[in-house]
Amino acid sequence: MSERWTPDSWRAKKVLQVPDYPDAKALADVEAQLATFPPLVFAGEARNLKKALARVSAGEAFLLQGGDCAESFAEHGANNIRDFFRVLLQMAVVLTYAGALPVVKVGRIAGQFAKPRSSPTEKQNGVELPSYRGDIVNDIAFTPEARIPDPQRQLMAYRQSAATLNLLRAFATGGFANLGSVHQWMLGFLKDSPQSRRYKELADRISDALNFMRACGLDLESHPELRATDFYTSHEALLLGYEQAMTRVDSTTGDWYATSGHMIWIGDRTRQLDHGHVEYFRGIKNPIGLKCGPSLKPDELLKLIDILNPDNEPGRLTLINRFGADKVGDHLPGLIRAVQREGRVVVWSCDPMHGNTITSTSGYKTRPFDRVLSEVKSFFAIHAAEGTHAGGVHLEMTGQDVTECIGGARAITDEDLNDRYHTACDPRLNAEQSIDMAFLIAELLKQERAGKAKPMPAAAGL
Ligand code: TRP
Ligand code: MN
Repeated sequence: MSERWTPDSWRAKKVLQVPDYPDAKALADVEAQLATFPPLVFAGEARNLKKALARVSAGEAFLLQGGDCAESFAEHGANNIRDFFRVLLQMAVVLTYAGALPVVKVGRIAGQFAKPRSSPTEKQNGVELPSYRGDIVNDIAFTPEARIPDPQRQLMAYRQSAATLNLLRAFATGGFANLGSVHQWMLGFLKDSPQSRRYKELADRISDALNFMRACGLDLESHPELRATDFYTSHEALLLGYEQAMTRVDSTTGDWYATSGHMIWIGDRTRQLDHGHVEYFRGIKNPIGLKCGPSLKPDELLKLIDILNPDNEPGRLTLINRFGADKVGDHLPGLIRAVQREGRVVVWSCDPMHGNTITSTSGYKTRPFDRVLSEVKSFFAIHAAEGTHAGGVHLEMTGQDVTECIGGARAITDEDLNDRYHTACDPRLNAEQSIDMAFLIAELLKQERAGKAKPMPAAAGL
């Protein structure tokens, strides 16, 4: 693998999950056009995220990554973006307080369009058509025309990502993310939550902390640390032609960066050592993620780490585990031990969504809240036992009041799924379930903190 890397060297390798574009010339034209467009993010920001993730790997921060399974063209609007961001910030405040750690906020957003599929075709009522591969490739409507991959969609995805990112940047720094108002939303949320009693104590302590700061004369609105936040974007870099077109040299360092988002990850289905995705990822300097599912063996993981992070750079590699609540105990300890034994620095993050998808009796693809929570709990328990840091979570979530995952404080049932099942792909935690989840993770973070607390040294003469 020490061969020369170029942004297109992946093209010489085998690549899975490639859409069947009917017109190669039209595709090449779009990619050439994308290559002339401005980058969506710039290298300095990706380096800042890498530094923040390096702190996570050292146990000094926590990663909160979340967003839609798949963004869609139809649901592109300000309210959707605002509601998602609001929920993510509320979750972040709770986790920051409970863990007494900075929370690194990363959205699955502004680029999360391409979807890997388990089958190239899909059957409905005896009719077989190409699978839907995300709005960046084809249309979800079940008609032959809609399912033809259309390269023009890549331009739409680029423009939507730019507009989404623009609004998020404004929200993150323009006053919307001010700590005082985020906490105020939380109090509003708790008024209506069936779990409010349980969460009240933590919320009250945050109120007290903010009131104490105000009493000391600190104006929460005027300090950038309290008024603004750093927010980063991420997506699965599945469609390598698009990614290549957005790959640019950073003029300050001469290094190559993916500029389609701050962090990109490799899916569990496309992480083969000698395939195109791993080849593309090894050459870009962004922080990257690697999805690790039950089929990943410890020695294979170590080989992947050698290729993807040969210099053992902290913050470069986040291992996003997605085993399933019933399998995490069988797989995660072995991977952790291998990584520890070889002294490799990684961020451990838990995706409790993708290993816990079931088909409900009513026929919907869903995820039971309890199973999601159970995988997160095992993830924390395993890291506590191995002496490593449970570094973060990776959630599929939305700011909308959808009914896609069953359970949670409001106990969404199988029959409820039909009400507001809106996802273009996998079922997401709704706004309330997401905040519930944050409070429950907060308890786990607090335990981790208590477990790490060193006994006070014997007081000498005090
Ligand atoms: N700047 C700090 C941070 O991002 C504190 C902060 C400001 C914050 N607004 C926030 C934290 C909103 C969480 C959510 O962590
Ligand atoms: Mn998904």
